[in-house]
Order: sequence, then structure tokens, then C-alpha cells
Amino acid sequence: MTPAPATNDQFGDIKTATLTHLEQHGCGCYPYSDGSLLATLTATAGAATVIELGTALGYSAAWFASTGAHVHTVDRDADHQHLARKALTGHRLANRVTFHTGEGSACLPTVAHLGADIAFFDGYPPTIAIVTALAATLRPGGLLIAGNMTLGGQAGQIRTQLATWQHTDLGETLLAVKPR
Ligand SMILES: C[S@@+](CC[C@H](N)C(=O)[O-])C[C@H]1O[C@@H](n2cnc3c(N)ncnc32)[C@H](O)[C@@H]1O
Repeated sequence: MTPAPATNDQFGDIKTATLTHLEQHGCGCYPYSDGSLLATLTATAGAATVIELGTALGYSAAWFASTGAHVHTVDRDADHQHLARKALTGHRLANRVTFHTGEGSACLPTVAHLGADIAFFDGYPPTIAIVTALAATLRPGGLLIAGNMTLGGQAGQIRTQLATWQHTDLGETLLAVKPR
């Protein structure tokens, strides 16, 4: 059964397409639960550069890009990124997104010099190695948004590692500020 379109979500079409894709392929491309939270944090921070691990079909990238930030998004699934590019083009946001296709461990070090204002982890499962590589792309004072933190993997170790950063634990999502 095709999921019902999301209401009150300007990118609900991408979320619905992602859920349909997930249902058809069983590939784990769950769209982030609250895109407007991502955009609110990005706008509040005045973020110019966002680095994201986990493009899927572009739902979270669309919310980040809608604030005017430039998004560098990493995914090892080239089909997902192809669909994401189409979706973002449809919303006239593709010019604000740079796609990096490959493993996070290989791609993230190539963008670390950018010094992101926001880094977003939305891979599955959470692993300490990928979150550490993502955190290394942040400038001091930048915000790490770690999603999927209730889905097992190494979420507990990630929480421990980030305990010394200014942080707040929202359950599914952990927000942590990189020390200056
Ligand atoms: C939960 S989905 C991302 C959802 C997306 N952020 C959204 O809001 O629609 C996870 C995506 O991360 C990718 N992924 C997971 N682990 C990865 C890794 N280690 N390196 C690169 N891509 C990864 C998967 O291919 C998948 O497309």
C-alpha cells in the first residue's frame, strides 16, 4: 500500500516518494522524521554550509537547502542520489546541493576542509567511525545533528563520545556543538 502524502510539509512529495521506494526496495532509506526542525536549526544558526551523511531521495537535503545553505550530501547508493537530484531539481534546489557518491569513510575526509556550520548524520546503523568522520567536517562551534540514535548500532558509544560537547538529547536525535 502506498503511504499517504505528508500534510503541512512543503517537501511531502519527496517524503512520500522515499517511503514508497523503501517499501519497494527494502533499502532502509527512512526519511528523517521532522524536516522543519532541520530547517529551523539551520536558519537559526545562519548556516552557509551543511554536510550530510545519508542523502536517500533528498528529503532532508531539500529542507536544509530551502534555508539558502549549500548542502554537501554523501551516500553510497548512486540510485538514491539520482532520484534525489531529480527531486531537488523539481523543487529548484539542485543548485544548492553537491552530491558525493561513495562510502562515508571515503567521502567525508574530502569535504572536511569546508568547515561545515552543520553536520547531519542520518545513516543506518549509527557507527562511531562515521559520526567521528562527520564531526571532523565541522568548524569549531558548528552543530552536529545525529539522527537514528534510537536505532541501535553504536548510539551509546556516540553519546559517550559527545558527552563533553554542549549537547541536548532529543531521543531519536542528538544535538551537539563542537567545542571552540
Ligand atoms: C535513513 S536514509 C537517509 C534519509 C535522508 N536523510 C532523508 O531524510 O530522506 C540512509 C541513507 O544513508 C546511506 N548510507 C548509510 N550508511 C552509509 C555509509 N556508511 N556511507 C554512505 N552512505 C550511507 C544509505 O544508502 C541511505 O540512502
